[in-house]
Amino acid sequence: MENRTLNFSIFRYNPATPEIKPRMQDYQLDETPNMTVFIALNRLREEQDPSLMFDFVCRAAICGSCAMLINGRPQLGCKTLTVELPENIILMPLPVFKLVGDLSVDTGTWFRGMCNTTAAWIHTSDKFNPKAVEERMDNATALEIYEAERCIECGCCIASCATANIREDFLGAAGLNRIARFMIDPRDNRTPAQIFEVVGTDEGIFGCIGLMACDVLCPMEIPLQTQLALVRRKMMGAALACKCKK
Ligand code: SF4
Ligand code: FES
Repeated sequence: MENRTLNFSIFRYNPATPEIKPRMQDYQLDETPNMTVFIALNRLREEQDPSLMFDFVCRAAICGSCAMLINGRPQLGCKTLTVELPENIILMPLPVFKLVGDLSVDTGTWFRGMCNTTAAWIHTSDKFNPKAVEERMDNATALEIYEAERCIECGCCIASCATANIREDFLGAAGLNRIARFMIDPRDNRTPAQIFEVVGTDEGIFGCIGLMACDVLCPMEIPLQTQLALVRRKMMGAALACKCKK
């Protein structure tokens, strides 16, 4: 590994002190083997600037809190090795989400709103019976559900989405992936017409213009194109069925 000095240009702004205008601040740091953007930011904060704000929890691509724009691409800081980047590295907060400060954004409020909009829980008329034997599910269906459940709510797909960047009510790939998860689940009794009410709109599946950045940038490699295609197909079917009845 060649010895490099990395030049970081980092977005700085604290909404709590609006009198200090947003700006880019430059830092230099010697690269070390296996350095990630997470390691670099921690060193910058410990050695050069304790006021730097950014989010990390797990350091292992599990919690989804460290997503940011790294040279313009939404990526996880803890999963991105500096060796894969040029020596000039620009770090910006994810767009779409509310800025907390510097690189830290509030993805939690957005994801809670999306869960409420999509009513992201099993809808069933079955009464809960604690003594009932657990219902079996075939492996193929369980695996399909698990695929959608792998979302870590990092927000990379939302930040990279053209529609989400211009309309704040758009459910985005994460929201449509969430509804796909419940469409696959045989325990959810919602009919396609009921789901159409939630996602058969411009804020839902028909707002997607198919640029597919979400699919390319999802750090969990969830096949978002496939999930979106499933929702689109089912919603087209529900719309046609509704028209035929009229
Ligand atoms: Fe992140 Fe992928 Fe979930 Fe979008 S679908 S929030 S990119 S893990
Ligand atoms: Fe948890 Fe990066 S710190 S995903």
